[in-house]
Amino acid sequence: MPKNIKYIIIKGIIISVIVGYFVVLKKEANTTGEYIDIPTIATHINGMEFINSATCIECHAQIVEDHYKTAHYNSLQLANKRTIKGSFKNGKNTLVLNDKVTFNFVEKDSGFYQEPKFKDQNTPFYSAKMDLVVGSGTKGQSYLMWNNNDLFQLQASYFTPTDSWINSPGALNQLSPARPVIERCLECHTTYAQNISGSKNRNQFHRNNWVYGIDCQRCHGSVKEHVIYHKQNPEDKIAKHIIKHASLSRQQRLDACALCHSGLRTKTTERAFSFWIGDTLRKFSFLDYDEASLNELDVHGNQYGLLLASKCFTKSTSLDCTTCHNPHKKERDNFASFNQKCLNCHSTNSNPINCSGDQNEIAKMNNNCIQCHMPLVKSKTMKIPFTENEEVSVDIRTHLIGIYKEVN
Ligand code: HEC
Ligand code: HEC
Ligand code: HEC
Ligand code: HEC
Ligand code: HEC
Ligand code: HEC
Ligand code: HEC
Repeated sequence: MPKNIKYIIIKGIIISVIVGYFVVLKKEANTTGEYIDIPTIATHINGMEFINSATCIECHAQIVEDHYKTAHYNSLQLANKRTIKGSFKNGKNTLVLNDKVTFNFVEKDSGFYQEPKFKDQNTPFYSAKMDLVVGSGTKGQSYLMWNNNDLFQLQASYFTPTDSWINSPGALNQLSPARPVIERCLECHTTYAQNISGSKNRNQFHRNNWVYGIDCQRCHGSVKEHVIYHKQNPEDKIAKHIIKHASLSRQQRLDACALCHSGLRTKTTERAFSFWIGDTLRKFSFLDYDEASLNELDVHGNQYGLLLASKCFTKSTSLDCTTCHNPHKKERDNFASFNQKCLNCHSTNSNPINCSGDQNEIAKMNNNCIQCHMPLVKSKTMKIPFTENEEVSVDIRTHLIGIYKEVN
């Protein structure tokens, strides 16, 4: 017995010496700060290294925590039970495409599948795995499938207003081949994807060189040097090696959002994922609408065009997207916060709500400026046939801020 105790004590001492040695060594290594390794999760073809946004938690904990909840961050994700909004439960897991074909949505050990089946056949026509999910699910989702390195959009989507599986908007009412997904489609929904085909119109991507969803680096650009610098100089509270939003021009600040919020743009010779914050968007792509007919823009995806046509924008010198939006927060339905933004410009000492509308009506609407001046408008593109003569469309807030008499 005593021999055993002696053995345990000696073993204990040896372990503590070893552990102690590493603790001290590790501490020393940190304070000397000569070499800090930050793993790269993906590399842009231009050489820019992407890192995990969890790296930012150390110094920007609240922003990261908030950001993980946003539609931006969740705009493109790996498909799994949590991220797919469509249901796999009996009774909700089918889509009748036409009188011959029905889609079944099936959960297997290996993943989640779309399986169209002809009425007179016993086995599905194909079984397609949903690998990636596009869309946070605020309005709907589309599903992408890998076939080796080729990426395709599957025929069935999910539509939030009806909480059901649907035929993708724009698809024919018959079984259609999966659509190739090109880099343009991904540019607005994810931080980085690398096309390996050599042609911007081909759908081959590097499967392991991705940054999913819209993360910090999509809006702030390269951050690796910033992180290394601040880890080495914790006493420096002034941001270094990062583009400062406040030092950009109004157009540059608008461009940072317009990249994805001004509709489908016509590209110059530049490729997708080449624009970064601080660049001049016009050098990368042009608006593909006529600025004289702004009122006709669809509310889906073109907040930029509509805002630019509003008097609030044309008559002020400072208004941009971040005047009303905190890009790090999920703010949907937080009307009190949005209304306060209006009042920052539209109230005076003598008139706290400088609105010439009917004061009784305004009070009835709880002073909700947006309800009357940025009403919900039905999208002309985000809609699906529901029954034979009924369509369901997504309602989107117009950014053409103005006077809408019909809302009253
Ligand atoms: C070791 C600490 C540290 C880490 C890690 C860190 N930052 Fe920072 N960052 C700072 C400091 C200090 C500032 C200046 C004070 C502030 O604005 O919070 C700053 C400021 C910023 C700014 C504001 C720039 C401006 O407009 O003034 C951005 C953007 C930013 N960081 C992005 C990031 C991102 C993205 C990550 C993660 C990839 C990250 N930071 C990780 C320390 C850090
Ligand atoms: C890389 C493309 C991209 C950039 C850059 C971008 N957005 Fe978005 N934004 C999107 C996409 C895609 C969605 C829809 C996400 C979803 O629901 O899947 C979205 C959604 C939003 C929403 C709705 C959020 C919600 O809760 O539904 C707001 C508000 C928004 N963006 C504002 C901004 C602002 C402000 C900027 C500039 C600071 C900006 N975006 C920059 C692509 C982008
Ligand atoms: C030019 C930028 C852009 C491109 C390209 C683009 N989208 Fe979007 N998409 C958006 C924006 C912005 C939103 C949300 C804001 C809105 O509705 O105005 C959105 C919304 C969506 C939504 C609904 C998300 C939700 O939950 O609300 C889906 C699904 C979607 N897009 C799929 C796709 C697919 C699939 C492609 C490629 C074939 C694509 N998008 C290409 C910008 C883009
Ligand atoms: C949709 C684009 C977008 C995304 C995504 C985004 N930011 Fe920002 N960020 C901005 C803009 C725009 C500003 C300037 C805001 C302003 O001036 O009101 C900003 C400001 C900042 C600032 C300085 C001001 C502040 O609010 O403290 C920090 C720090 C920052 N971002 C860190 C991050 C981190 C970390 C992430 C990822 C977790 C991130 N951002 C994701 C657009 C974005
Ligand atoms: C940066 C300041 C600013 C902000 C923020 C702002 N506006 Fe304005 N708005 C203006 C200016 C300036 C005008 C032009 C006033 C004039 O013509 O005398 C204007 C005009 C208007 C008009 C008259 C439009 C017309 O076509 O005649 C309405 C309505 C309006 N704003 C509502 C709003 C609402 C609602 C919000 C919040 C969602 C808002 N504004 C936010 C500055 C702002
Ligand atoms: C004057 C204030 C104001 C400005 C400026 C503004 N927005 Fe908005 N935005 C709003 C309000 C209010 C909503 C509705 C929020 C809600 O429904 O919860 C909204 C909603 C959105 C949505 C979601 C639309 C939907 O219904 O799904 C997107 C995307 C968006 N804004 C992008 C932008 C972009 C990009 C810019 C700059 C070009 C911008 N916004 C400028 C006030 C503003
Ligand atoms: C019940 C609907 C309603 C609500 C809520 C409402 N307004 Fe109005 N507002 C109107 C109407 C209608 C007009 C145009 C009145 C006219 O010209 O006859 C108007 C006019 C305006 C104008 C133009 C003033 C001018 O004479 O040029 C501004 C600015 C404005 N509103 C701001 C606001 C703000 C800020 C809020 C929120 C605090 C708000 N409104 C809430 C209905 C509304």
